[in-house]
Amino acid sequence: MAILKIAKMGHPVLKRRAEEVADPRAPEVARLIGHMNDTLNDAGGVGLAAPQVHVPWRVVLYEVPPERDSAEDGLAQGLPRSALINPVLEPLADDMEDGWEGCLSVPGLQGLVPRYTSIRYSGMDAEGQSVAGEAHGFHARVLQHECDHLDGVLYPMRMTDLSQLHFVTEMRHYTNEPPDPAAEPDDG
Ligand code: NI
Repeated sequence: MAILKIAKMGHPVLKRRAEEVADPRAPEVARLIGHMNDTLNDAGGVGLAAPQVHVPWRVVLYEVPPERDSAEDGLAQGLPRSALINPVLEPLADDMEDGWEGCLSVPGLQGLVPRYTSIRYSGMDAEGQSVAGEAHGFHARVLQHECDHLDGVLYPMRMTDLSQLHFVTEMRHYTNEPPDPAAEPDDG
């Protein structure tokens, strides 16, 4: 077990394009995914990208907690934590939706971020098998957030209204937003 240090906004590793993983079945990739799992368990959150632990490889971990489920997601019980290696995303339609996001590399803040509501994803799983599918709602959001990390993009760079960038503590004290606890962002 290894808990890795998380890079914060401003670190060069979060600004560069991460590299394709040449051999997704290589032992060092499995080792990295194991360490990322431990790190995410320790930090708490719904996703983590390799650059966030200072490794510039195209690897992300993500999950959909059951409380994030919606009919729109098409998921009954959420989605267990999954790894995606060399992921490729494409929007299925132009529709976008605002939602609150947080990020382990931008601690203490949350912001309202527009994301595509439906995407197609492909890549390889932790066993090196090809995977592909469609993602909607929160599932689509967390994938877009994590895969942005592989291209040097943090969620504030996707925001269209920076007046909606808040310290979580102030949000809790001074507003009713997000209105229900399930809508509070999990870090990714
Ligand atoms: Ni993040």
